[in-house]
Amino acid sequence: MPNLPPNFELVRVGHPDEMGRRAADHLADLLARRPNAVLALPTGRTPLPFYKELARRAKEGLIDLSDATVFCLDEYRGLFRHNAESCFSFLRRHLLAHAQVGRLFAFDGQAPDPDAECRQYESTLAALGGLDLAVLGIGRNGHLALNEPGSPLDSRTRLVSLTEETRADQVWLFGHLSRVPKQGFTMGLGTLMEAKSVLLLVSGADKADILAMALTGPVTEAVPASVLQRRPHLTLIADEAAAARL
Ligand code: PGA
Repeated sequence: MPNLPPNFELVRVGHPDEMGRRAADHLADLLARRPNAVLALPTGRTPLPFYKELARRAKEGLIDLSDATVFCLDEYRGLFRHNAESCFSFLRRHLLAHAQVGRLFAFDGQAPDPDAECRQYESTLAALGGLDLAVLGIGRNGHLALNEPGSPLDSRTRLVSLTEETRADQVWLFGHLSRVPKQGFTMGLGTLMEAKSVLLLVSGADKADILAMALTGPVTEAVPASVLQRRPHLTLIADEAAAARL
């Protein structure tokens, strides 16, 4: 079995609730040190137990995000914020509806000038001193946020075309392939790698091969998540199925 780089911490979990608890613990530790932390947060199926646990803790007064700043990692081009499938709506449903969050920055999927929208995202982030924590997932094709295979490893926030594989993986959200947008805004790989810390959440047997490839194979644009190997430190929370090849 390939070995993880020594600077990576792997937390194997047996149940989605445990992933939620461990990920929430990680965030709670950061907030205890830095209540005004700047976070990039993901959408998708993998982080649902994390948000469920954050909602529970917020309701019980066990976690406080009221001074934190949250950036949505990505957004589908062409959606309005209020569209149910937007990343903004996802975070509103799974986080903001349950926890008071200091500030939330989300891409405007309808922005008339996409480049200006991305520059604004980068400059807002820079003015806040950059990310304290990026919570990320990995796509079956190795994408990180919406940085698809072929993305430059030093890429900045930008508008990208989605691969057919990524679009097909979003049918659960949009109901039909024809409704899945063809483009999306994403924080860049270079942008994300500048975060002070990274937490990677991965679940499911269908991620086992790509996870092992990303963390123990060559660092290459063909597997965008392989850029994580350049991190001085990474915390990975994975279920047994996803970690099977590590
Ligand atoms: P998923 O998405 O959690 O829905 O598998 C992860 C990703 O595409 O980054």
